[in-house]
Amino acid sequence: MSTKRACEVLERRKEFLMPCLNYFYTKPPLFVRANMQYLYDDTGKRYLDFFAGVSVMNCGHCNPAIIDRVAAQMKTLQHLTNIYITEPVVKLAQRLAAVLPGDLHNSFFCMSGSEANEGAMLLARIATGKRKFIARKSGLHGRTELTMAATGIPMWRADPFLQDDFYFADTKEEIEAILEKDGDIAAFISETIQGNAGIQTPEPDYFCNISPLLKKKGVLFIDDEVQTGFARTGTMFAIEQYGVTPDIMTMSKALGNGIPIAAFSTTREIADRFTKPSASTLGGNPVSCAAALAVLDYIQEHDLCRQAERLGKELQCRLLALKEKHDCIAFVRGKGLMIGAELVKPGTGSPWSEGTDFILEALKDRGIILGKNGVYRNVLAFQPPLVINHDDIDYLITNLDEVLTQQASLPAGF
Ligand SMILES: Cc1ncc(COP(=O)(O)O)c(C=O)c1O
Repeated sequence: MSTKRACEVLERRKEFLMPCLNYFYTKPPLFVRANMQYLYDDTGKRYLDFFAGVSVMNCGHCNPAIIDRVAAQMKTLQHLTNIYITEPVVKLAQRLAAVLPGDLHNSFFCMSGSEANEGAMLLARIATGKRKFIARKSGLHGRTELTMAATGIPMWRADPFLQDDFYFADTKEEIEAILEKDGDIAAFISETIQGNAGIQTPEPDYFCNISPLLKKKGVLFIDDEVQTGFARTGTMFAIEQYGVTPDIMTMSKALGNGIPIAAFSTTREIADRFTKPSASTLGGNPVSCAAALAVLDYIQEHDLCRQAERLGKELQCRLLALKEKHDCIAFVRGKGLMIGAELVKPGTGSPWSEGTDFILEALKDRGIILGKNGVYRNVLAFQPPLVINHDDIDYLITNLDEVLTQQASLPAGF
């Protein structure tokens, strides 16, 4: 049940925000505070958060180890922009260079995942002198001009006048055919694991098979780690598990643990070709950089990569056991604590978005917040803060099992 206050806020939201902004649940709670893996609504009810604001709060909500350092920076120096010399941004770039895979070394800081991908694509065009891109059929890269054009999922392509400098391809054969016929490709852009497409997780050799084709034609690989980055998948970046190093990597979300920050990073050689003036007014401001430095410290001090790997294995095992019991779970996939369970209508095998919504709502009523994604909006997304524990997984699985049993007895059509 939503409270009177929650209903009032929802009405005002509908009146004053844009109608394009969707929300989950028919009876949404009004969240008023949070602490690590828990959210609280206006009645004081506690919810176990298994979505982390879409893979953002990897280090937990309102984590004192991070917010105390952000607050200290806010009281010291907040903003100047990049025409002045400040230290936090330099410290962060240096620190990132140490954790980025391969020889990725130079970074440009901005404020959102869309802006990081837009910048990465601009860099690819400038560095190669070529214009076009290959993107994935079910990728999602943002809401700006280039990034929306690079987004394959139909529901996120809102602009009716998107430019057509893009090919969409998934397989090695499709990519090879495009590279053979068109010499004007600047870059191939792909998420490592496609989050919005329903945690679509490539085969272990996927990027290894494509990388030599790109290298042969001088086409850059832009790896979008906006959703997979910062320990989420059991390594600092998911691409480390695929045996290749991208030419450009983009990141955002968990880098700031709730404080807006994003970046694209590349090799010194590619960075050296980006000499035309560029800037981001708020990009690399001391407060965002203090947050990111605290995040990197927290991930390393608490070994969140190992924690995500260990708990991810446990969660995946438990979900696979539920798959054996409940026909509606068709697939369980993912890495670390980025796991999807794809739901189909029992007996038909067709995507089951109504069932997904039913489960989300029922779990919310039981105090658990899950995510939802997939091209057909039928994938339950498990992307909690990485600070959860065994008992949280147990609580989730017990409740999910009960809700799945309950929905199986509902009338057909659900
Ligand atoms: C993989 C990926 N790239 C880019 C973006 C866009 O990021 P932002 O919403 O910060 O602009 C998203 C957002 O969900 C994403 O999941």
